[in-house]
Amino acid sequence: LPIAILISGRGSNMVAFIEAVAAGQLDARIALVLSNNPDAAGLERAREAGIDTAVINHRDYARREDFDAAMVARLRQAGAELVILAGFMRILTSVFITAFRGQLLNIHPSLLPKYPGLNTHQRALDAGDSEAGVTVHFVTEELDGGPPVLQARVPVQPGDSADSLAARVIVEEHKIYPLAARWFVQGRLTLSEQGAFLDGKRL
Ligand code: GRF
Repeated sequence: LPIAILISGRGSNMVAFIEAVAAGQLDARIALVLSNNPDAAGLERAREAGIDTAVINHRDYARREDFDAAMVARLRQAGAELVILAGFMRILTSVFITAFRGQLLNIHPSLLPKYPGLNTHQRALDAGDSEAGVTVHFVTEELDGGPPVLQARVPVQPGDSADSLAARVIVEEHKIYPLAARWFVQGRLTLSEQGAFLDGKRL
């Protein structure tokens, strides 16, 4: 299955996908890595792996909808049938979300519905939470609010900083995100009006 990965930064989740495909754990072809940020470090890592890359710079577009339409056109051209948001730091409009409804996943570094938005790890620490984690979810119009697919939990440890907690969480991100994509590629994971379903059972 042709998939596309959207990044804005270092792309460690993208690398986890590259490795999962290489290891035969994900029966997919990474057709395109697309970034809004020409300086995203992950672009170089994708090129090193021989993957097609593209940059569509949001600064070149006056309207979010036009930026989104340009991305949709590029992803269609690449034949993407699953779109993976992996540290993609632009808010998408319905132009993009409707184009890939049910074929669009995001990873968010909190135990949603806790802490949508930014600075999730600091917010978990400030709240005195005893555990933190990460959520893979289908993307809908509600920011970080689409139906959850898979979560991983980690303990918060005494003396944790946002960085030390993020380092513990990202290890889990790299496991659960390719796994969720694997379910999708296997045709086991679907989105309907009622939510996310795995093997016909509501998640
Ligand atoms: C991850 O923590 C992801 O959950 C969040 O942004 C970060 C991206 O990291 N949405 P990377 O670019 O995949 O290394």
